[in-house]
Amino acid sequence: MTVTTASLPFLRACRRERTAFTPVWAMRQIGRYLPEYRAIRARLSLLDLCKTPDVAAELTVRTVEVLGVDAAIIFADILLLAEPLGVGLSYVAGEGPAIERPVRTREDVRRLPDVDPRDAVPFVFDAIRFARRGLAGRVPLIGFAGGPFTMASYLVEGGPSRAFLQTKRLMRGDPEAWHALMERLAVLTARYLEGQIAAGADAVQLFDSWIGCLAPADYREFVLPHTRRVIAALPPGVPVIHFGTGTAGLLEVMRDAGGDVIGLDWRVDLAQAWRRLGDGVAVQGNLDPAVLLAGPEEIRHGVRAVLDAAAGRPGHIFNLGHGVLPETPWQHVVAMVDAVHEMSRHRE
Ligand code: CP3
Repeated sequence: MTVTTASLPFLRACRRERTAFTPVWAMRQIGRYLPEYRAIRARLSLLDLCKTPDVAAELTVRTVEVLGVDAAIIFADILLLAEPLGVGLSYVAGEGPAIERPVRTREDVRRLPDVDPRDAVPFVFDAIRFARRGLAGRVPLIGFAGGPFTMASYLVEGGPSRAFLQTKRLMRGDPEAWHALMERLAVLTARYLEGQIAAGADAVQLFDSWIGCLAPADYREFVLPHTRRVIAALPPGVPVIHFGTGTAGLLEVMRDAGGDVIGLDWRVDLAQAWRRLGDGVAVQGNLDPAVLLAGPEEIRHGVRAVLDAAAGRPGHIFNLGHGVLPETPWQHVVAMVDAVHEMSRHRE
């Protein structure tokens, strides 16, 4: 895992404008802050939007234009793969994703169909092709998938969770069934990301958003081999961003699982986290999204603190530590992006 080989094209793209890199996965929940998105959602559900690749692609491109970020992330959702798995996926307004038939037993795991993403979610690959065309090389395009643990947690819990007790019950109560589920998800996720890369994604991000609920030893035993398998299956030369939240206790094991870039949330000091991760890896992060609720001065202050922690070291990708909060005015996201560009230009 070296940043010098695999992530070169990605990092080169960030240096093109001599700016810190501000990719846009922070666009998640764009729904609640960009008027263009709300207009589209008034006529299409989230799932229908994802299944209409020309619209998903247009939204991807438009968001880059509005926010001025240095990379695009394809408009999709990590749970799109739950539908072909036959567990019954819907999105409940105000609550998030809901799985009708959660996977809780070894029988449930065995019943999961073998899914080929090329047949099951062709619209994602089409959206990537269209978005690439629309971006015309202006900024790189990032594909993404849920990490195996985060995917498993939604399938087992049936929706969002605080303590992940059903997930941990399966993990501890029937480790064989757990590993079988994680293996299935790892293979599926690797195929899905390979498909996205083949369709033109310049980099991919693995969102293992909820691993922070795990003890490091449990991550090592129950998650790491599967995540490593996903990342190792991907073609060399395409940067992989490996992201989680609440990972202060997990940075070393996360790095062991792989990724050219480790995504950090705001609960860690970026400089300290980078020291722990070592030289061979780039970092992405890590402004607290809540800072965007404050005014322009506080936003500039927050951006400066993150850039100071990164100290101009090559391989820092500026980002929020997690998704944009629903109540954030979109103009504040633009203020953040402008501040990053201005301050990182001054630094050089
Ligand atoms: O432009 C973009 O917004 C990027 C596309 C994107 C979405 N989801 C679309 C979406 C991305 C990168 C995601 C990732 C995702 N989805 C993650 C990993 C990142 C993270 O935040 O940890 C997770 C855990 C999910 C699952 C998910 N999807 C949840 C929990 C929810 C509901 C809560 C919420 O944030 O709204 C969704 C719905 C969702 N996915 C929306 C969008 C734009 C909101 C839909 C709407 O309200 O119109």
